[in-house]
Amino acid sequence: MQPSRPYHNIALVGFMGVGKSTVGQILAGMLDFEFIDTDRVIETREGRRISEIFSQEGETRFRDLETGLILSTGGGLVVRPENLASLQTHALIVCLWASPAVIYERVRYQGHRPLLHTPDPQARIAELLEQRKPAYQQADILVGVDFRSPQETAQYITNSFRLLRHSPHRNAPSPA
Ligand code: S3P
Repeated sequence: MQPSRPYHNIALVGFMGVGKSTVGQILAGMLDFEFIDTDRVIETREGRRISEIFSQEGETRFRDLETGLILSTGGGLVVRPENLASLQTHALIVCLWASPAVIYERVRYQGHRPLLHTPDPQARIAELLEQRKPAYQQADILVGVDFRSPQETAQYITNSFRLLRHSPHRNAPSPA
C-alpha cells in the first residue's frame, strides 16, 4: 500500500522476536538515520529493566510509559490506537511479520520477556499475535521475515522507503 502522507521516519512495529532491533540497526546504517528503540528509552528514563517495570507496577504502567514517545517499537505499542496514530503523523510504518512457530524458536531461551512467563508460551504467542493482527495490519508495509535474513529485510525496507519517498503521490492529500 502506498501512504499518501509525508513522512520522514520509519517506525518498525511487529511482535517480539521478529527482529525489529536487529533490522532497525542495519536499516539505520543503510539510510544514515538515527536508531531509537523505545524499550531502551523507557529503561533509561526509568532506571530499571522492562521486566522490573512489569513485575513492580504491571503492564498498564508500562503501556502508559510507551504512550507519548515519538519513534517507537515495543511489540505491543501499536495496540493502543493513539500510539499508532502518533506514528502515522510522521513515519512510514513497517511491520515485521513472523509465524508463531518462528517467533517461539527465537524467544524460547530468552528470560526477559514478561508476557511469555506462562506455562505455555507458544500458545500465548499465537493468541497475542491473533489479537494484535488488526493493529499490525494497519502498517504501510508488511514484511514477512520467516525466510529473510535481517540484512535482506533491511534491504527490502530501504528499497521500499526510497521508492515511496520519491513517489509523486508522497505529498498528496489523504483521501477523505
Ligand atoms: C512487548 C514487547 C517487548 C517489550 C515488552 C512488551 C509486547 O518489546 O516492549 O516486553 O507487548 O509485545 P520487543 O517487541 O522489542 O521484544
